[in-house]
Parts: sequence; C-alpha cells; structure tokens
Amino acid sequence: MCLIASASQFEQVIGRLHPILLHFPLALILVAAFIEGARYMLGKRDLASPAASVCLWIGFLMAIPTVWSGWELAEYGGDTGTLVGLHRWTAIASLGVMALAVGAWIMRRFRGADWAGTHVAFLVVAATLVGVAGHFGAEMVWGENWLFGPLTAESTEESSESDQQQATPFPSEIKPVPEQSTGVGWSDVEPIFLAHCQKCHGPKRQKSGLQLVPWPTMFAGTAAEQVVNPGKPNSSSLYHAITLPMEDEGHMPPAGKGDSLTDEQIGRIAKWITDGATGPDGQRPPEPSPAAGAGI
Ligand code: HEC
Repeated sequence: MCLIASASQFEQVIGRLHPILLHFPLALILVAAFIEGARYMLGKRDLASPAASVCLWIGFLMAIPTVWSGWELAEYGGDTGTLVGLHRWTAIASLGVMALAVGAWIMRRFRGADWAGTHVAFLVVAATLVGVAGHFGAEMVWGENWLFGPLTAESTEESSESDQQQATPFPSEIKPVPEQSTGVGWSDVEPIFLAHCQKCHGPKRQKSGLQLVPWPTMFAGTAAEQVVNPGKPNSSSLYHAITLPMEDEGHMPPAGKGDSLTDEQIGRIAKWITDGATGPDGQRPPEPSPAAGAGI
C-alpha cells in the first residue's frame, strides 16, 4: 500500500466515509428532539436533559464531517442533478439549524427556562430537515419510491415471484425486438436505459455529468464527450461500458449497483447504435456541439 496519498486520494477517502458518518447526526438529532420535545410538553423547562444534550452535541459535531464527506463524494462521483442539489442543500440547512440549536442550548444553560422554547423549536426544525435530507439521500442510493414502492406496485398477486421486481422502481420488463422490424429504434432500447441506467444518468441525477434519457440528452456535448457514436458501436464509450467485464471499474452499471445487461440487451443496444441511434420518431441524433477553442 502506498503511504503517501495525494490530496485528491485523501479527499476521495473522506467522501467514502459519508455512508458511515451520516447515521450519527441523523439518529442523535432525532433522539435529542424527541426527548426535549417530550420534556417541554411535560413542563420540564428549566434545564436541558443531560441525555439530549449529549445527543445534540455529538450529533452536531458529527454533522460537520458528514456534510464535508458528502460534498467530496458528490465532487468525486461527478454527481449532479436536482436530487443531489436537494440532498446537499437540505443537509447544509439542517447543519445550520443544528448550530442554532447548540447556541440556544448554551443560552438555556445560563438563562434557564426562558430559552427552553427556542432550544426545542430549533431541535425540532433540525430533526425535520435532517430527516428530509436523509430521505433525498436514500432516494439517490436506493432509487425513488423505495419505501412505499411495494405498496403502490401494480400487481400484488404473484408476490412471491415478483417481489424483487416490485421493489424495482423502474419497469424491468423489456419487450423483445419484434422479428419483422427492419431496424432497432429508440422504443426498443429506451426501457433498458430506464430500468438500468436512469437512476444515475436520468433527469434527476447525472453521474459523471452524463444523462442518457430522454433521448436527446444522450447527445449533449462535444464530439469528444459523446458516449454514442451513431453507426459505430465499437467507438461508442457507452457500448464499451456495458460490455466490459464486471470486475472492471468502468463496467456499467457499476459492480454491486445493478445487474449486468443480458447479452440480448447488449445486442439490442449495439444494433440500435449500428442503425443510427435514432430517436423516438426515427430522427437522426443532433450534431455534437463544436469543441471548445475550435473557433466560431
Ligand atoms: C449506480 C449508479 C450508476 C448506474 C446505475 C449506471 N451508471 Fe454509468 N456511471 C456511473 C458513474 C459513477 C460513472 C463515472 C465512472 C467513472 O468516472 O469511473 C459512470 C460513467 C458512465 C459512462 C462514462 C461517462 C463518460 O463521461 O465517459 C457511461 C458511458 C455510462 N456510465 C453508461 C451507463 C449505462 C449505459 C448504464 C446502464 C446500463 C449506466 N451507466 C448505469 C454510475 C452509474
């Protein structure tokens, strides 16, 4: 192991601590708000509870590295999009309100009951925000509608077989390529991208800055940035990414984050690219934007 890590490697490690750290502020602030809220209702308003105080202080102190690590993780993962933004800013807001709750705790310690209401109010707001931030974070990792997905899934009958499918937030049923079709069009490959890629490369989240659905977004950027080279699967980085061996870091979907595409799906995508990577109405892909510095 190399002991002299570069600054960027160090930052990546900080980022990877995020899933470990985040449980501390989340649980501790909820517990602190619960205890202090209950005590307030019961009329115990002079001094803060020692247990809740420990939770608040540790929760707040752990929230600082949690936010930092989350920031690094998004930077290094190249994670952008509205969902990441919602998660990031609700988390930062909750850190801010936790700091206010700590301030109110200090005032309460010196001034007593006068500050109990403020202390409890900040705690409850901080706990709510941390819960909302956690919810957005969970959607990023587990996909949208993870929690209630099983309740709203359409077919509840053959549950034993389809349990796994119901938990999948996106359609996992891929229709076979019609035999008589002359070429493979967008409607034949779109379900694959929706089911296996949208979570990280969709409208809400763009890992590595890459969006694959809806169709035109796949062709954003300069020629060098294009992941699909219409007509040429072998010079399309998207095709490479889905055909790499699973242990390869560049394999898509990333190892442990979803099943590899089947040979049939890979073949269908290859054919779609060969057939011109056409859009929903059979249209040709837009031209890449001119390279920076190429002149106007
Ligand atoms: C769990 C999240 C996740 C899923 C699901 C996922 N990707 Fe990715 N994708 C990433 C990450 C992270 C990177 C950046 C990898 C890197 O930089 O090493 C990436 C990078 C890529 C790239 C390279 C982008 C570039 O800038 O060259 C392509 C192409 C790609 N993904 C295609 C796909 C396709 C196709 C699917 C579905 C079959 C898919 N991805 C599913 C997370 C994901």
